[in-house]
Parts: sequence; structure tokens; C-alpha cells
Amino acid sequence: MRSKRGLWSTKFGFYLVAIGSACGLGNIWRFPYIVGENGGGAFVLLYAVLALSVGLPLLIGELLLGKYTRRSLMSAASQIKGPSFKALQWLSLVSILLALFILSYYAVISGWVLHFVMQFVVSFIKPQMEQKDFLATLMSNGLLQAGLASVHLVLVFIVVMKGVQEGIEKWIGNMMPLFMILLVYLMAKSLSLPSAENAMRFLLYPDFSKLNSSSLISALGHVFFTLSVGFGAMVTFGSYMHEGEHVPSAGFRVALTDSFISILAGLLVFPMALQVSQSRLTDPTLIFEALPMFFMSNKAGNVFGLVFFLCLYIASLGASIGLLEVVVSNVVDRIPSLGRKKVAIIISGIAFLISTIPSFSSSNLRQVQVAGRGVLENIDIILITWVLPFVALCGSFVITYVLPDKPKQLEFCNPSHFNSTSLYGFWKWSLKYYIPAIIILGFILRFL
Ligand code: TRP
Repeated sequence: MRSKRGLWSTKFGFYLVAIGSACGLGNIWRFPYIVGENGGGAFVLLYAVLALSVGLPLLIGELLLGKYTRRSLMSAASQIKGPSFKALQWLSLVSILLALFILSYYAVISGWVLHFVMQFVVSFIKPQMEQKDFLATLMSNGLLQAGLASVHLVLVFIVVMKGVQEGIEKWIGNMMPLFMILLVYLMAKSLSLPSAENAMRFLLYPDFSKLNSSSLISALGHVFFTLSVGFGAMVTFGSYMHEGEHVPSAGFRVALTDSFISILAGLLVFPMALQVSQSRLTDPTLIFEALPMFFMSNKAGNVFGLVFFLCLYIASLGASIGLLEVVVSNVVDRIPSLGRKKVAIIISGIAFLISTIPSFSSSNLRQVQVAGRGVLENIDIILITWVLPFVALCGSFVITYVLPDKPKQLEFCNPSHFNSTSLYGFWKWSLKYYIPAIIILGFILRFL
């Protein structure tokens, strides 16, 4: 089993893929408007605390499960004997289905990004074009959204087909550094705007009265989503890890980088958003409205706009590759006779079919509203705020009770890593008591 499994070609390969799939639309697109929806600073603080105290321990647990079993989630679960067998099978199935659904809805938003890339290209030819039209054209045209989502899924399919080493590592590895540099540059530019002071206050001053009863579960859901925890993704990535790698340190680096990029995105988006429009801080279209407007009102803005959306597209491609890879690797591990290519085609096809529903959310399905929200937002809330925390809760039980102590201790406690023995006790405690308690509290507050 071990010898047949491809490992990352370098130690760095793991980080590229784990960070590449953690950092995506969750950081740049979703984080800002969720922060907007929950009133700013207090939510950012809550998010940061939960990322390190709830997301990180679960992330480490998933990586450990993968590294220990050298399998993806579903076949790792099939190895476990005993009374929990059936429950584990179901749980892993839910995780994988969740990855499939997220991939579908992620494809729609990635399609939006593609649209902006194209609009900025067109703006070189037709400079008089109004940026307002960029978003309006897109929102009123479901067919366009579905078409763009399918283009995205085909691109993702092509990369995943090439396999772990050539495909994924090369793509993400080349693009991530460029994106980081651009983000820092744009953040600096954004922070020099007159609105920066207000934006900083909004983002960094914690006014706890702005939190509401669903803020806790929203923050938890977003933490899991942005760290890619609860999908079995990190189990798959951990299964390709090299023997000598210290899992907790690896998990820590991934979580830290991801949170850092989210904060960076907040600092970049809010000054621009406050500068150009006050009202839509809570809407999924936030960055698609504020950023192009800002870019187009600046000299050489279309160059920046093009490069920004291109980088964002590549980040979302990285995350989508991770999502498809999780589903494909699980199915291939279970049914090897099907072959990777066939599985990848089938899964991408299913993802496309599902993606047609959110694609029409802002056009033909505009009238379909539940609790004052459209289809796309409701899908987002059901998947990320309800199902995902539930799966993560079950995940904490699996890591605590099903994964044997021996490998956990062996992987965790390493004399060359600072304080790993006492951190091991803390990690086990948090998975057993603290994390379940917080998630259950989140649900109680939400439904009370
Ligand atoms: N974390 C990704 C983002 O923030 C999205 C994501 C969720 C993901 N689950 C995943 C990516 C599983 C890869 C694998 O955009």
C-alpha cells in the first residue's frame, strides 16, 4: 500500500498543496462579507481565536489520520473495525459529499472571477466601458454563470488528471508567491486611502455588541471552510506526507498562513469598499462590486484589476483542485478498477450538474427566497454553517476515540520540537472537551 502511493516530490510540495487549497475564495471572497455581516472587529477576533483553538487541532487530527493510515478518508474509515464502523462509513460519505457540493458552488463563484478577468481584458479594448456593467451583466445571466462554472470545472479536471506530482504541485507552486506579493502591494495601496482609518476601526476594534446569536456558529463554519477541515481533504494530503514530517508543526504553518491571508484580505478589501460604496458590506458580491470600482477609478487600474482577478482565479483553481482531488482520491481508493480518469470525469460532470442551481440564483431563481436570502446564500449557509460544523464535531470524536493513542503520541511528541509533549496533552483535551463544547454551544445559540 505504502510503496504504491505517490508522495509529495519534496517536503515543500505538501505545503504548497495544503496552503494552496486552504487559501482560496474563502479568504478573499467569503471572509470579508462574513465579517461585514457580523459587524467587524469582534467577529475578526472571534474568528482568529477559533481558528487557532478549534480549527488547528482538528486540522492536525485530519493530517494525522491520513499520515497514519496512508489512505484517503473513506478507505481509512473502512479499516476501522468495531461498533463504530457503520457510523464512520456514513460520516466519511457525508464529508466527501460535502466536498462535492462545495466544489459545485465554488465553481460558480470561480466563474464570477473568470468573468471579471475577461471584463478587464476587454476594458483594454473598450476603455469607455463602465465597471458597473461587469457585475450587472453577470448577475442577470444565469446561463453565463453556468457556462463559466463549466469552463472552470474543465480546467480543474485537466489539472487533477495529471496526478499529484506533475499536476498540482507545479500549478500552485508557480502562482502562490506572485499572489502573495500582489496582495501585500494592494493592501499597502488600500491602506493609504482616506477611508483606511474607518476601515481599520471597523476591522480591528472589537465591539462585542455587534455579535449576534448566530455569530459563533458562523465563525466556526467559516474557520472549517477556510482551513479545509471536515472534508477529508487534509486526510488525503496527510496520506502523501513524508515519514519524517512533524504533523503538528505542519498543521500550525498551514493554519497560520491561512489566517494571515484572510486578515490581509480584510485590510485590502474594507478601505476600498468603504471608499467606493457604503452599503453592500454584507453581500456575497462585496469584492466584485468594491474592487473593480476602485481599480477603474485609478490610473492603470485595469492592469491591477486584471492581475488581481487573475491571481484570485488561480487561488480558486488551487482550492478547487484540492476539492476535486479529495473526492477523486476517495473514490479511486475504494474502487481502483474504475481508474482515475473515469472517476475524475464523472465527478466533474456531477459537480457541473449541481452547479447549475446556484448559477441561476441571481437570475431565473431570483424569486426563490428563504429567510430573506437567495438560493446561493442559502446553499452557502446550509453547507458551511450547518453541515460542516456538524461533520467537524463528529470528526473530533473520531480523532479522540477511534484513532489509537500510540500513533497520535508518536507523531505528536518529538523531542526536537518545542514543548510537543505538553502540547500533546492540551491537544487531546481540546479535541475531547473544548471543541465539542464550543460547537454544541454554537448550535444552541443559533437555534435558541
Ligand atoms: N479552504 C478553501 C478556501 O478557503 C475552500 C475549501 C473548503 C477547500 N474545503 C476544501 C479546498 C477542501 C480544498 C479542499 O477557499
